[in-house]
Parts: sequence; C-alpha cells; structure tokens
Amino acid sequence: MIKTQLIAVSIVNKVLSGSSLTGVLNECWQRHSTLSSQQKGAIQDFSYGVLRFYGQLNEILEILLRKSLQDKKIYYLLLISLYQLLYSKLPAYTVVNQTVSASRKLVNDKKIHGLVNAVLRNFLRQKNILLINATKKEVGFYSHPQWWIDKLRSQHPQHFQIILNADNKRPPMALRVNQRKISITAYQQLLSENGMESQLAWPYALLLKKPVSVEKLPGFNKGLVSVQDAGAQFAAPLLGVRHGMRVLDACAAPGGKSTHLLELADISLTILDNDKTRLAQVEQNLGRLQMSAHRIICADAADPDAWWDGKFFDRILADVPCSASGVVCRHPDIKWLRRESDLQKFAIQQQAILHALWQMLARNGKLLYVTCSVFIEENKLQIDQFLKLHSDARIEPLSESMLQEGQLLPDSEHDGFFYTLLHKF
Ligand SMILES: C[S@@+](CC[C@H](N)C(=O)[O-])C[C@H]1O[C@@H](n2cnc3c(N)ncnc32)[C@H](O)[C@@H]1O
Repeated sequence: MIKTQLIAVSIVNKVLSGSSLTGVLNECWQRHSTLSSQQKGAIQDFSYGVLRFYGQLNEILEILLRKSLQDKKIYYLLLISLYQLLYSKLPAYTVVNQTVSASRKLVNDKKIHGLVNAVLRNFLRQKNILLINATKKEVGFYSHPQWWIDKLRSQHPQHFQIILNADNKRPPMALRVNQRKISITAYQQLLSENGMESQLAWPYALLLKKPVSVEKLPGFNKGLVSVQDAGAQFAAPLLGVRHGMRVLDACAAPGGKSTHLLELADISLTILDNDKTRLAQVEQNLGRLQMSAHRIICADAADPDAWWDGKFFDRILADVPCSASGVVCRHPDIKWLRRESDLQKFAIQQQAILHALWQMLARNGKLLYVTCSVFIEENKLQIDQFLKLHSDARIEPLSESMLQEGQLLPDSEHDGFFYTLLHKF
C-alpha cells in the first residue's frame, strides 16, 4: 500500500497543480509499467476519491493541522489517508501505520513522521465532531468550489443539490449496443451468460451493475458494443440522420457520437477535430466497429476556409468544447481545475464554431448543438445569442420529453448534457 499511496501523492500533486487526471494517470501507467491491476485499482481509487471529496477532506485536515503545513506532498498523503479512513473498509490501524511509513519515504524528518501519526490518530478520536465541523462550510459539505455551488444554486434553484450529489457519486459503466449487429435484449442476454448483470437505462443504454475492463465485454473487439454514457446516447438519434445524407461531426474525437451516427444509417460522414492524437482514437474506434467515414480531417471547425470543399451538409453535429461541468462524476478533477472565467472563454469559442458551421448547413438542414455542461453561459445563453444573429434559424422541438428545454441534468444513471436542435429554413 505504501507504493500505491506514494504514486497517488504524485498524481494528486500534479492534478492540483493544473494537469488533467486522465492525462496524468495515462502517463503514470506508462512510467510504472510493472504495476499489478490491483495496484492500479488502488491508485485510481485514491486519486479519484481524494479529488471527489477534496473539499470535505481539505476542511477536515485544515482543522486538524491548526498551523499550515509547508510540505505539499505530506499534505496530499494525509488527504489520501483521510480518504481511506473515511471511505475504505481497511482497518484504521493499517492505514495509519502505512501512512506513517509512507511519510518516511517522502521526508527524512522525525517531527513530520510524528505529526502524520498524531494527525491521523486525532482524526480517529474526533471523527464525528470533525465531520460535523468540516461540513459547516458549503465547500466542505458539497466538495465543490464555492463559485460553482453559487452558480448552480442561482441557475438551477430546484435541482442544485441533486446535481452536486450526483457529481460526487461513482459513475455507472454504460454501454451502447451496436444494433446493426445485435439487439439490446440479445446483448443483455450475452452479458448475463458471461456473469455480468445489467439494466436498461432510459432510453437505449445498458448499465452494468459492476464496471469491468472493456476486454471482458463479450464481442467488444468485434464491434458489438461501445462504452458510452447514457446521456450521450441521445445525441445521434436526435439529429435524425437518414440513409444517403451528408453529415458533419465537427468536434468528433474520440468518436463516441460519430460511430453512433454510423450505426443509425448509411451516411456520408465527415469527421473533424482539431486534435490529432484524439483523432487517432476515432480511427481506432472505427476500425473496431468495422465502419468507415467519408473523410477524417484534422482542422479548426471555426475556420472552414482551411478545409471545407463547399458542399453543404444535411446534418451537422456540434459537440463543442466546453467546461465539462456535466461530467464531474467521471472527471472529479474538473471542478477544481476550472475557473469561473473559463466559462466566458468557452462561450467565445462555442459561438465562433457555431457561426462557422451554420454557413456549411444546407437549407432545411439541421444542426444539433451539444455540450456536456450544466451552466447556462454555454447552453441557453449561447442559443439565445445565436438566434438573435441568425434569422434563418429556429429551434426544433426535441423528440425526447426528458430533455427539459434541452438540459439533461446529471443523475445516478447518466451525465449532464445540453441539446438544442436548430433548423435552417
Ligand atoms: C466534447 S469533445 C467531443 C466528444 C465527441 N463528440 C464524442 O462523442 O466522442 C470536444 C472535441 O472538440 C475538439 N475541438 C476543440 N476545439 C475545436 C475546434 N476549434 N475545431 C474542431 N474540434 C475542436 C476537441 O479536440 C474535442 O475532441
């Protein structure tokens, strides 16, 4: 456990210094290639857990420390240990002993080793009162930054607590069945024959009772199934693609929605993204699902002069870059990395992409604007602004009644998304 705690310390340190958790973890697996799957699981659990409950754990530690602790790594080690003491089933004495040993690997200072021991033992003695005191502040109670809590409260007064709670849950593993190859019922049967229990989440996804690595999914390599959040599975059907249509997926990588579009109809699909590395993942997914696109282009969606051949599209999917505030349960680092001012930056980027894409849409064509955000700056306000500037655009009602005015709020079954279907007349 000492090794896993120490690796998690360096991951948490990098993330809280500004790097994305997914990127840091990938780097970590490359650097420590001999880790067992159990060790990897523990490292992942510590890193995700600390970031998920950082607000609460940080408040507890601040109360316990009284004076500020200069050594950041020891601070993060203590956070990891508090996470274990609160959220794992390991015996408390094991966690405390291992943490003190881990601190010896980090610094050669007996006072610090003594402090680590004393802090953790104090925590165990005063756990109940500490938990109460740490949740007196909203940051400790909800484990989100205060600006985030305030914004959600003002934008979603009826639902902000549900959103904050959903953000702090472990997400389900959701599957999209490739219905060109197998029906949802038949695939569910296949899962059950392989000892995996699943349930159907409205309207199309299968949620696994226990997450597994993708290689264990029956027929994964043959393209029977893809991993995709249930909320994300609304996108492709909402666009209403039909055989023979010219379709653009403008912000496509890693290709979750592109491949779904290709499963729904025989379309001529142009796949665009400005990130080469992420486009490689699209190619991988197409290969696994035995699908092909008309073109795959690495370019800026907001700069059509650089890549567009002048032929109009019947349908455009604009799954624009955003704050990702709707997918916090899968990426708990997001809530600590984002700044409130980022929303304005995303909004400018989103308007630029939306305006450029509109020029490429045929008359009577439809464009689906998508974000995985719960903030109105990236959602409703963007569409209001767009409609003011484009008199040839109108909002098409969505077929899914669940999408109240386009906003799907995160819950225990799916992530948060915003959908608006725009019709060009
Ligand atoms: C929300 S993700 C797309 C997820 C994807 N649609 C899926 O379902 O798998 C947004 C994507 O937009 C890409 N992107 C960001 N700015 C872009 C731009 N100016 N032009 C094209 N792609 C862009 C990012 O690289 C990222 O892959």
